[in-house]
Amino acid sequence: MWKNALKRLAEVDADKGLPSVTGLMGRRYLYEECRKLKAKNILEIGTHMGYTSLVLALAAEYEDGHVTTVDNSPRHKDHAVALAQGAGLENRITFVTNKTSIEYLSRTPKTFDVAFIDGGHGEENVLSELCVLRHKMNTSGVIFLHDVFPPDELARPGERLIPGPWRAVDRFMDFAPDMKFEFVRTYKGEIIRMGRITL
Ligand SMILES: C[S@@+](CC[C@H](N)C(=O)[O-])C[C@H]1O[C@@H](n2cnc3c(N)ncnc32)[C@H](O)[C@@H]1O
Repeated sequence: MWKNALKRLAEVDADKGLPSVTGLMGRRYLYEECRKLKAKNILEIGTHMGYTSLVLALAAEYEDGHVTTVDNSPRHKDHAVALAQGAGLENRITFVTNKTSIEYLSRTPKTFDVAFIDGGHGEENVLSELCVLRHKMNTSGVIFLHDVFPPDELARPGERLIPGPWRAVDRFMDFAPDMKFEFVRTYKGEIIRMGRITL
């Protein structure tokens, strides 16, 4: 599955999005999960330069699906759109800029099979996103979060642990006992620091 995606990435992005903070293995994990789930409608919170949006769109293409990616800043929109155009995926991605995740989610009528939370990493922000998103997910939907560090995790040299996402998940799960949370610390032997909530 991933080989085909890598080929498409190489055509448009010689270094395969390596500068992306989500990392190549994190994006591979999301791509392969979306393919397994046959996700048609996918949401990304936090577009940044559009590297992960591209990979999500490559997965959505198999289901004739669509990705919506939201960023409160317009800073990297041109880069993200150019990547999508280069891959012929511009019709598969809607770029929403200048809106916070909550501003977008509270107004959109769309619902999603997969959501990837990777915007503002503060505890209150992520908690708000989870609370609004749970009502926007389709049956059997899955929410992935980036930078979820297990509470006993030790920082690697030079690394800064980001506490917000895990604290938000911990509080959220208290009032969502029907949902299942798991840490996805590694994928194929590499650290990816994701979290996964199954509804
Ligand atoms: C870590 S980067 C996203 C990386 C991207 N998902 C990737 O994998 O390459 C975080 C992005 O979230 C955006 N952001 C921060 N707070 C936000 C909010 N409340 N709503 C929407 N986007 C937000 C920032 O502007 C930034 O571009």
